[in-house]
Amino acid sequence: AAVPQAAAPRAADLKEDELVVLDADSRQPLPRELGELIAAARAVQGRAYAPYSGFAVGAAVRLGDGRIFTGANVENASYGLAVCAERTAVLAAVLAGGRQVVAVAVCTSLWPPAAPCGMCRQTLAEFAHDAEVVLCSPSGPAQRTRLSVLLPHAFRPADLEQFAEQTAPVGRPKRRP
Ligand code: THU
Repeated sequence: AAVPQAAAPRAADLKEDELVVLDADSRQPLPRELGELIAAARAVQGRAYAPYSGFAVGAAVRLGDGRIFTGANVENASYGLAVCAERTAVLAAVLAGGRQVVAVAVCTSLWPPAAPCGMCRQTLAEFAHDAEVVLCSPSGPAQRTRLSVLLPHAFRPADLEQFAEQTAPVGRPKRRP
């Protein structure tokens, strides 16, 4: 079933110049696919609910099948309950059946652009072996990096699988905690 979600802007609905984003280091245009993802993150930043910090963040994830899902941060009067943009985008993707994130764009009104917090890096690592990450602001160039750079040695599902193998050798029932 379709999950109600603010639709990510489609490339066809965007103006050509919104899809051309320069790499902050090389000053060369980024691949169009990344330009689209950045445009989606920029478009959703304005939907953030951030009355306490005033720090609005928009995020967009691209799945292996090409679908884009977006998210923005949602804060709470009980401050510690704030949910980051990256995690709302990942949750939207997962609820729509997505399991493989290949690229992430994060838009903040900060320069140099802010990178995802540690908790979001770990959430991304669950669904991305090594996603491309682009950090941007509402306009201007973008910085390109990778999840493996932001979070080396992530704890992964494979670690738990290995643990299960080590604790339950063939022919012996799994040890229970
Ligand atoms: N925030 C994000 O949405 N993503 C990040 O990676 C860093 C922080 C949000 C959480 C909170 O609503 C506000 O930014 C200030 O911390």
